[in-house]
Amino acid sequence: MAKFLVQKSDPLCGTVDISGAKNAVLPLMAAAMLADGECIINDVPALRDVDVMKGILESLGVKTEEMGPSVLKIQAEEISTNEADYNLVKRMRASFLVMGPLLARTGRAKVHMPGGCSIGSRPIDLHLKGFRALGAEVISADTYAEAIAPEGGLVGAEIYLDFPSVGATENIITAAVLAKGSTVLENAAQEPEIVDLANFLNKMGARVRGAGTDTIKIEGVERLHGCEHTVIPDRIEAGTFMLAAAITRGNILIRNVLPDHIKPITAKLRECGVVIQMEDEGMRVIGDQKELVSTDIKTMPYPGFPTDIQSPFMAFLTTVQGPSTVIETVFENRFMHVAELNRMGANITTDGNKAMIPGGSTLEGAQVIATDLRAGAAMVLAGLYAEGTTEISEIYHIERGYERFVEKFRALGANIMKVNN
Ligand code: EPZ
Repeated sequence: MAKFLVQKSDPLCGTVDISGAKNAVLPLMAAAMLADGECIINDVPALRDVDVMKGILESLGVKTEEMGPSVLKIQAEEISTNEADYNLVKRMRASFLVMGPLLARTGRAKVHMPGGCSIGSRPIDLHLKGFRALGAEVISADTYAEAIAPEGGLVGAEIYLDFPSVGATENIITAAVLAKGSTVLENAAQEPEIVDLANFLNKMGARVRGAGTDTIKIEGVERLHGCEHTVIPDRIEAGTFMLAAAITRGNILIRNVLPDHIKPITAKLRECGVVIQMEDEGMRVIGDQKELVSTDIKTMPYPGFPTDIQSPFMAFLTTVQGPSTVIETVFENRFMHVAELNRMGANITTDGNKAMIPGGSTLEGAQVIATDLRAGAAMVLAGLYAEGTTEISEIYHIERGYERFVEKFRALGANIMKVNN
């Protein structure tokens, strides 16, 4: 089983280029099914999750072709089936994002229930609520969900999301763009990835307004054509490298980052004493200017503090002077990394969705596991700081969502290597 061996590292320094966003490219690839022409997507990161999504599109009769490094062509003139391949869907929750486009394009979609995962049960009730509101008959069985549009096709509706779910917002937008009439989505997710999806759809001829706010209006159109689009940079990868500079007290220049997308991370790191400044080429993060101190974070839907940065930030907070609290409000079980950090001497205690971090830990290398994609990154960060060697297993989580992870960290001076044993 492959592992990462991470050793205490000198302060990281150098330059890192951020890849296209995993959580933007996956909905974009699914949405490309809506076009009766070809779509070209640039800055596609080389990730296992992208490969899984390609496989699912292919299983639906959609053609995908790599046109060069990080350029993907998707041709959806023909869609041969309404059912997404079970063996592929079960590998990735985001597979469920094909349901909206498939329903809109063919009038029927049957997708295997996406499993829960370590961070929570991950229900899809809000996705299905949206499809029903648009007039679809929805069957929600134990192992699959099926949506069937009425004879005349989907009809625009007013939909309120009980929670600003990212995936439900994406699936409802892609289902509504070809519906008859207009749809208003209230309490919508406001993440940058939603804005990127809306920009992509509007290039295809859709009429989506208000993405990035809590109210999104969609005017249905007859058809959508192909287009070319470049994926936004991955704000979570950027945040991960900001924390790598902070935890090692290093000095890193991060290129291909949109500062507006990482405001909460920048604000909280500055509260800890990390220097963050914009330069011509990118954003410089400096962790060695003074003794770093604690802060408190509470995860919220965008524009609040991102839940995906909660575990990497917690790893950093174990090393600063003073106590911190971390409150996780988005997922019900996203503290699996606490036990792993405690194996390294972090002495974190939890009470429900609140974690208390005493801070001031030296951390000792240990054998730990990556309990989810972002927690895996958090364990690597902790290993860069800890005395001795940290052995991280279950690293397939990390490789699903970070492009050239080891290569990028080693280029900054990190003592990390992948071993297969
Ligand atoms: C997206 O997941 C991201 N994944 C996640 O990133 C991210 O953590 C999450 O949004 C929140 O920002 C992708 O974009 C592929 P949600 P998603 O629906 O869409 C509840 C990573 O590490 N909910 O906003 O699944 C749900 O239980 C991953 O890159 C319902 O109750 O997130 C959760 O508590 C991890 N009913 C909360 O909403 C629903 O129908 C947030 O889920 C849907 C969601």
